[in-house]
Amino acid sequence: VTAADLDRAESLIRSIPDFPQPGVTFRDIMPLLADARALRDCVRAMIAPFEGTFDVVAGVEARGFLLAGAAAMLADVGLIPLRKAGKLPKPAAAESYDLEYGTATIEATEEVRPGLRVLLMDDVLATGGTLAAADRLVRALGGEVVGTTALMELTALGGRAHVPEAHVLFRV
Ligand code: PRP
Repeated sequence: VTAADLDRAESLIRSIPDFPQPGVTFRDIMPLLADARALRDCVRAMIAPFEGTFDVVAGVEARGFLLAGAAAMLADVGLIPLRKAGKLPKPAAAESYDLEYGTATIEATEEVRPGLRVLLMDDVLATGGTLAAADRLVRALGGEVVGTTALMELTALGGRAHVPEAHVLFRV
């Protein structure tokens, strides 16, 4: 995957002003996902630094699922969804994190086993709360987090402080 390929993919991210509230620009990845070449190039580039080091990819609900599913197929590894609270009938662990107003919780099943080498994936690194909670969640079950990879980092929100090693393709 070349820099030009990634530039092409990045150009497909749509900016939507004043969503979800006035003054905020929403970065919409749907056009990128809908483009076969961009989807493949991005997922390949997201996992490339970690090739051969992970047994599964774990994606965070909901948009992280889309990238993690594609990555699992490309890397020929399994997929572990990290779900929002209340969706799993038998969660093995839960981790909460702060939102602008209130808190959120993500949960995992027992498929995160001790010693399992896990690559964490999500679409966006914003405040970093979600990926930091995902990291704690996997470790709480004895999994080994070999890396964290996201499509896009919203740098103004400072989330990198919570996940300093995160690999990201695009910074806005
Ligand atoms: C978004 C995004 C990340 C998270 C990043 O998810 O997909 O998971 O926020 O934010 P943070 O770094 O501040 O934690 P959202 O909850 O909007 O859900 P979705 O994927 O279900 O659309």
